[in-house]
Amino acid sequence: MSQSPSLHVAIVMDGNGRWAARRGRPRTAGHRAGAEAVRRVVEAAPGLGIGGLTLFAFSADNWSRPPAEVAALMRLFARYLRSETARLREHGVRLELVGRRDRLPAPLVTAIAAAEHATAAGGALHLRLAVDYSARAAIRAGRILPDVDLLIRTGGEQRLSDFLLWECAYAELYFTDTMWPDFGAADVAAAVAEFHSRERRFGGLPDAAAG
Ligand code: IPE
Ligand code: IPE
Ligand code: MG
Repeated sequence: MSQSPSLHVAIVMDGNGRWAARRGRPRTAGHRAGAEAVRRVVEAAPGLGIGGLTLFAFSADNWSRPPAEVAALMRLFARYLRSETARLREHGVRLELVGRRDRLPAPLVTAIAAAEHATAAGGALHLRLAVDYSARAAIRAGRILPDVDLLIRTGGEQRLSDFLLWECAYAELYFTDTMWPDFGAADVAAAVAEFHSRERRFGGLPDAAAG
């Protein structure tokens, strides 16, 4: 078996700030544009054989950013959840937040619970948004997600930044210079095509040599 029937794809959505800076705009404009990329990728995912999609939206280390940027991100997450819930339901998307909730602003926690409740029956795609997420903390607490098949990072950096360290044990890694706000359906399709062209061996032998 070389193709899994339902892929778990994880994405480090990086490059929002640089995307905005190149346009002479504030970093928050990049985050807003990034929310539109989320919509494009979520809607393309089921047609590409993706059954699980985990998106890194805010790391536990991102609290070290300027308070104004953090506050803008928290408002953006809440707004995204409120405005997208109906659309997620229509597309059969089940949304779940992974990460700590106790440090998030109360309106965001409320929006998360409402979106999770409203989309709980979605069967086309299990969308996990990682907010205030640290893989090391999750591992210590025994909160492990399904194995990741394909890990994508946009924005040119080639590192995991404390995302899904356990789950990516045998993930195929895909790095692209494309900034997250420019990422779309064709880009995720290209990453999935690249994934299918690779041979996963899990420590065994190539198919041809296995006899
Ligand atoms: C990713 O984009 C979004 C978050 C981490 C919240 P960045 O904000 O890290 O954008 P760059 O890497 O500075 O361009
Ligand atoms: C990782 O991006 C976190 C998210 C995309 C949410 P960062 O921009 O925070 O990562 P570093 O600082 O470049 O490693
Ligand atoms: Mg970054």
